Amino acid sequence: MSTAALSVGLKLGVVGKGGVGKTTVSGLLARSYSERGKRVVAIDTDSNPNLGLSLGLSLADTEAVPVLPRAVLVGSGPAPSADALVSDYGRSTPAGPTLLSAIRVTEAGAGCTCSGHATVRNLLADALVEVDVTLVDMEAGLEHLSRSGGTLAYADVLVVVCEPTRKSVLTAARTSALAAELGIPHVLAVGNKARTPEDVQFFTDALAAEGIELAGVLPYDARVAADDRAGLVGMTPMTREVQAALDSVLAAVDFAVAD
Ligand SMILES: Nc1ncnc2c1ncn2[C@@H]1O[C@H](COP(=O)(O)OP(=O)(O)O)[C@@H](O)[C@H]1O
Ligand SMILES: [Mg+2]
Repeated sequence: MSTAALSVGLKLGVVGKGGVGKTTVSGLLARSYSERGKRVVAIDTDSNPNLGLSLGLSLADTEAVPVLPRAVLVGSGPAPSADALVSDYGRSTPAGPTLLSAIRVTEAGAGCTCSGHATVRNLLADALVEVDVTLVDMEAGLEHLSRSGGTLAYADVLVVVCEPTRKSVLTAARTSALAAELGIPHVLAVGNKARTPEDVQFFTDALAAEGIELAGVLPYDARVAADDRAGLVGMTPMTREVQAALDSVLAAVDFAVAD
């Protein structure tokens, strides 16, 4: 890892097509870093936030995580530091990481979510000095990468989650192109929900054709889906296959930021 990355911590953005497993993979990656002794901040940017569930919080506790204030973004008065925001608005989770909630839409017609995205951008730009890994679970859609001053402009690595479908790989390819425009140095793909060796081969071939490195493949795991329905995600032990896939992703991230 470079000195710069060490001094301000690693910043990861988790992106991909809707439903591919961004939140699930975000929770598993954040948990894996915590289990390695890292201090992790996980940021939920979904307007219907549920990253908390993937980190072992109950629905009630997930909904009780305070949303980061808009005041930070509109530029009135001095902005609180990233560290102050984490200590004021962050909530610890059973899986280990501190959870921040950037966006929540509670009323119909409550307006756009731009301000929440601006907060996340500022958080990533600011140095979270006491944090080793900051991970952002992005809501689906590419607009927050393409908009000038993209939310993830200060990320070190984009993790693009794919499922074994052509469309999710196309989304990954578009994401990768936008990441290059934003100046995000590294893009890594994670294949998710692989049921067969053919699925794994599909990830390998389709991503290679797009010039995107495949960092690991997570199996379709019926328990992941069942835990998700039961609200237990994040707390049950991982299968060896899931653990091996996450180890591979973390190693690829380490390798990417080391050069
Ligand atoms: N590896 C997996 N195996 C089985 N089900 C999965 C896996 N990853 C995600 N899922 C399921 O897929 C659905 C969408 O996952 P989610 O993480 O919410 O996607 P996203 O955040 O991209 O919208 C959820 O029901 C989740 O339980
Ligand atoms: Mg999600």
